[in-house]
Amino acid sequence: MSGTRIAVVAGDGIGLEVLPAGIRAVDAVAEVHGLRLDWHHLDWGSEFYRRHGRMLPVDGLEVLAQHDAIFLGAVGVPDIPDVETLWGLLIPIRRAFEQYINLRPVKTLPGVTNRVRTDEVIDLMIVRENNEGEYSEIGGRAYRGLPEEAAFQENVFTRKGVARAARFAAELAVSRGGRLTSATKSNGIVHTMPFWDEVVRDTLTDYPSVELRSELIDALAASLVLHPERYDVIVASNLFGDILSDLAGAVTGSIGSAPSANLNPERRHPSMFEPVHGSAPDIAGQGIANPIGQIWSGAMMLDALGHRPAAAHLTAAFEHVLAEGVRTRDLGGTASTEQFTSAVVAAVGGLADRYLGTDA
Ligand code: NAD
Ligand code: IPM
Ligand code: MN
Repeated sequence: MSGTRIAVVAGDGIGLEVLPAGIRAVDAVAEVHGLRLDWHHLDWGSEFYRRHGRMLPVDGLEVLAQHDAIFLGAVGVPDIPDVETLWGLLIPIRRAFEQYINLRPVKTLPGVTNRVRTDEVIDLMIVRENNEGEYSEIGGRAYRGLPEEAAFQENVFTRKGVARAARFAAELAVSRGGRLTSATKSNGIVHTMPFWDEVVRDTLTDYPSVELRSELIDALAASLVLHPERYDVIVASNLFGDILSDLAGAVTGSIGSAPSANLNPERRHPSMFEPVHGSAPDIAGQGIANPIGQIWSGAMMLDALGHRPAAAHLTAAFEHVLAEGVRTRDLGGTASTEQFTSAVVAAVGGLADRYLGTDA
């Protein structure tokens, strides 16, 4: 019987360091739970671009479509414009496979002091609309050579796109604390936002048990710093969700720990799992990157593939390591990427009895 097919794109910078760490951790837990995972390494990224003038082969998306999931590190190097690298790889994958939800958990981690010194537990989920909004391709160009140079890009919200993000967030809120915050900017000059609000409100009429609040993005950003423990599920447009997820990740300790799942909830196409952070050129090559964002994304991948006990086991393993005081530098520790990852692999073994036999 063949195993689960996972396409692996390490990408650039610390992607090349945290991605192998993520695979080691996922493999350790897969072995304990008897899961067969077939990793297919694809050397796509900026080096591939330098050789071939493109980020992925002409049939790259078709290759990815043959897989059950995509495990990605990070993309981007200082000397190639991000518009080439990100719009050549990451964004096309999110769109081709209708990964319209970008799910980004944010949690207090054991042994990690949050940056805002709250004693209360932070445990929230950001549901980022991942296919449209401010990231539309309409317009999207600069007009040069005119007396007044200018750049335009249309902000596009469709009823279908907003409603499916709101529905996903509402379902999630039902399964959690029942509170949903919608990030908006309908007071200002963003003319698409009243439409966002209207579709979110309309969608939520199907979820009378969910308490919906709309908060203006500027005040919401401040409030997430001051009172992160008050939030449960946040639904946000593509750009607002992007910004809030780095902010909330940093509030709990470091964006290096923040995971994400780019989901095609209908499972018609593969979903993609990657840390929230980027390729971090400032620390790349030093072996000090925090691999938690990647390892936790691996746990989200196992969960989405239906391997709940293995996912819970892996999450417990890195939490156990943190609780024991092993931390990378961004979290105030001294552990290298390798040391932290080895500790997670050991913790997977140590916790095996607790999680074995719970597989369906
Ligand atoms: P970044 O997330 O790479 O780094 C921001 C800061 O956080 C840096 O100081 C970095 O050292 C630190 N950091 C990030 N991840 C860390 C980790 N795992 N451990 C410890 N410290 C960590 O953001 P940036 O510097 O703005 O972007 C660098 C490149 O990455 C750019 O080309 C950008 O476009 C790209 N990027 C790619 C993705 C992706 O592939 N999904 C996401 C974000 C940014
Ligand atoms: C992220 C990243 C990407 C985004 C960039 C690199 C295009 O910041 O995944 O959060 O904005 O979606
Ligand atoms: Mn981002």
